[in-house]
Amino acid sequence: IKKITIQRLHEMKRQGEKMSMLTAYDYTMARILDEAGVEILLVGDSAANVMAGYETTLPISLDHMIYYGASVARACKRAMVIVDLPFGTYQGDPETAIRSAVRVMKETSSHGIKIEGGAEIEESVKKILSAGIPVMGHLGLTPQSINKFGTFSVRAKEEAEANKLISDAKLLEELGCFAIVLEKVPATLAKTVAEQLTIPIIGIGAGAGVDGQVLVVQDMMGMNKDFKPKFLRRYADLQTIMTEAAANYINDVKSGDFPNQDESY
Ligand code: KIV
Ligand code: NA
Repeated sequence: IKKITIQRLHEMKRQGEKMSMLTAYDYTMARILDEAGVEILLVGDSAANVMAGYETTLPISLDHMIYYGASVARACKRAMVIVDLPFGTYQGDPETAIRSAVRVMKETSSHGIKIEGGAEIEESVKKILSAGIPVMGHLGLTPQSINKFGTFSVRAKEEAEANKLISDAKLLEELGCFAIVLEKVPATLAKTVAEQLTIPIIGIGAGAGVDGQVLVVQDMMGMNKDFKPKFLRRYADLQTIMTEAAANYINDVKSGDFPNQDESY
């Protein structure tokens, strides 16, 4: 099996071949997604929401991200594994940033890290890259800054914010980031960024004009009926399937149907 590398992703961009990315946080799910052929598995700090039930991504710790990251990396034979650095482990201080990134690389066997922001985190990006650690950027809606934005609504609709996003994306490319996630921005803006940059732009709620797409796996598998943003497409209805399976199991236990003789020693 040929592992997905940065070089391969860049070749895909040059050839106009779209790349697929999904989140994963655990071994079992990661094994299935890797075997399905997803190019990149993102151990997102969305784990704070979907794995731990927090309302924002702010509370998750680096130790938790490392635990999830190592679980996913153990499952992957082909996919590139990228781990989010969580809130408070890279902003403001490049020394903290590199310590966090080095811990992720040493303790998870993943292939790179993702951090949110542009010019604000320039020094941290430089420092992490200086250690030979691949960095994926993340612009647009950056959930670690939710308290600054106030809402999870579409970003960069106004010209000033759009211009800053374009210059941040160019800066991240110049610094040496290998790819950038663009979250919840107008499709035309995302397309412009993808056209102006040579590194892959991976969108979530950023339209079809980018180089690849990412979704949170529990969302696209339909495991949470209450979460239905416009950008989400559901590829399965696992909530219904799992609810029915659990109900059938409960019935069989209560009726004495499970276990039967074949299922007993
Ligand atoms: O944490 C996450 O799941 C993410 C993706 C939505 C890009 O950062
Ligand atoms: Na994230």
